[in-house]
Amino acid sequence: MMKGLILSGGKGTRLYPLTYTRAKQLIPVANKPVLFRVIEMIRDAGIEEIGIVVGQTAPEIEAAVGDGSKFGVRITYIPQDSPDGLAHAVKISQDFIGSDPFVMFLGDNVIQGGISTLIRDFTNHPEWQAQIVLKQVDNPQSFGVAKLRDDGTIEKLIEKPKEPPSDLALVGIYMFDHHVFEAVNSIGKSWRGELEITDAIQWLIDHGYTVSPHVHQGWWIDTGKPIDMLEANASVLDEITPSVAPDVVIINSEIDRRVTIEPGARIVNSTIHGPTIIGSGTVIEDSYIGPYTSIYYEVTIKGCEIDRSIILEKTTITDLDARLSSCLIGRSAQVSGKQTRPRTLTMNLGDHSSILIV
Ligand code: G1P
Repeated sequence: MMKGLILSGGKGTRLYPLTYTRAKQLIPVANKPVLFRVIEMIRDAGIEEIGIVVGQTAPEIEAAVGDGSKFGVRITYIPQDSPDGLAHAVKISQDFIGSDPFVMFLGDNVIQGGISTLIRDFTNHPEWQAQIVLKQVDNPQSFGVAKLRDDGTIEKLIEKPKEPPSDLALVGIYMFDHHVFEAVNSIGKSWRGELEITDAIQWLIDHGYTVSPHVHQGWWIDTGKPIDMLEANASVLDEITPSVAPDVVIINSEIDRRVTIEPGARIVNSTIHGPTIIGSGTVIEDSYIGPYTSIYYEVTIKGCEIDRSIILEKTTITDLDARLSSCLIGRSAQVSGKQTRPRTLTMNLGDHSSILIV
């Protein structure tokens, strides 16, 4: 039986300050944590047994995901004491995986179209020891990169090459059979001090095993940086089927077709352009929201314009002159405009915050 392995450790340093207080995999994209989307994708491919490799943020991840029953899967947590790399995560998961084939999915990756076809292809080709997913990108030096031969087979894989041999990045979704354990137990650490999954796959290739590359045609986003979160948010919002919960209160407002509004929200004297999602219990008054905006639950927005942004729960934003655009704002934040003189800016920002004032 095919199993799932989700890697959900890591400090998420590129998403500071949000990730000082929250696991990066739990930051919502279109009002649902990225990790939940990953679990649902694996489940929708017919896999019920999922291991999640967790690091420092284990308690938070376990509290959010539980035993998996709310997703219709069984979850086993696998603690990784030190962030020693993706191949190290595979190594410590051997007891959980046993001799079954498995799909490994990085908990901060979002991909269009799910993984059912990939899983079916891998299951139908028992002669493949691994399958990798590739995607053309503009910045291959930030990823693992594959060089393919003319016949489409893999010539080599390199992790974060300074001079990329192609623009085909390794997407954080991999399928393996038990041979990968031989590979992860044979390789050494990379220059960044980690056991790289890219090196383990290269080891399989070097030892005559078959690694099949699949070039993905839809979008793929690694939500490592704020700009990627906003990009993923826009892509997912484009795809969700809009719905407005029956108990939503809408007074004197213009809301277009592509807006999703969750239960208990209240929209007064406002215009909302989709694709946009408004979370449960959120209040929007005298404001313009959207497009491509996700407002999470119990947020209060009054007298503002916001587009292309993610606003997390319990935040309050009021009376701003300028429109908030491309913003990622954390939980229980307070942003308010000051209408009296002197027109000063008063801030109490977390470490690694960034603000652009015009
Ligand atoms: C990891 C892999 C890299 C892959 C990327 C996908 O990079 O090492 O090969 O392209 O995930 O998200 P990391 O996120 O560890 O920098």
